[in-house]
Amino acid sequence: MTTNLNGITLQFHDVGRGPALLLLHAFPLSGEMWRPQLDALGADYRVIVPDLRGFGGTDAPSPDGSMRDLAADCLELLNHLGVERFVLGGLSMGGYVAFEILRQVALDRVTGLLLCDTKPGADTDDARANRLAMAEKALDEGPLPIAEMMIPKLLGETSRAERPEVVRAVRGLIEANSGAGIAAGQRAMAARPDSTPLLPTLRMPALVIVGEEDELASPSDTQAWATKLAHGALHIVPRAGHLPNMEQPETFNATLWPWLNRLNES
Ligand code: MLT
Repeated sequence: MTTNLNGITLQFHDVGRGPALLLLHAFPLSGEMWRPQLDALGADYRVIVPDLRGFGGTDAPSPDGSMRDLAADCLELLNHLGVERFVLGGLSMGGYVAFEILRQVALDRVTGLLLCDTKPGADTDDARANRLAMAEKALDEGPLPIAEMMIPKLLGETSRAERPEVVRAVRGLIEANSGAGIAAGQRAMAARPDSTPLLPTLRMPALVIVGEEDELASPSDTQAWATKLAHGALHIVPRAGHLPNMEQPETFNATLWPWLNRLNES
């Protein structure tokens, strides 16, 4: 589905019926990375998955992205769909967008928070410089070299050795993006603020999930910041890297689904 909002055409999935769950994707993928959750959770939940600005089927009108725009697009999509209260979920870059949404929205609209393979801190100067260099490369050379660089970081060693179909799927999602969209995403992430001070202010139940083999957001780093959440629970997914929802979807869904059910019972 597509809709026009905030001066762009935004593509999204809106699947199932029940309490709303907004899922935000990682860099440099698209909403399609949530396919295993769209297929499973729609039985009980309304799963809303946008392609963030610059990714998948959503326009990137400017090569200079901002987290504020990505978050504003998501909130405008929820308004368009008539969704007031929702569970907010994001994986990696999707988590950065979730932190920005939490700054923009009345917090009582967010009934639960799902944060996967992400981190609240801002970039170091070195990390920021690397992002800006990757943005230039994406603009000059397109998505193929970006896929080569990112796949070993996104997928854990188990998936790279044993799950060629997951490697192919991730490569396909990256290569379907434009260099301009990838550049805008990197520039938006490079400019993001430190969200660590936000953590103790969040009172909603939170589920934090991380892949055991994640080298971009390690389980030990994740554990350190997750303790700052008032009502947070941490779950580590074995044999998965940075994309546990794609690498080990059964384990991921078996963690997420009962947590969602408990949220909606209370
Ligand atoms: C992602 O998976 O969204 C990226 O690895 C996030 C990042 O580059 O910080």
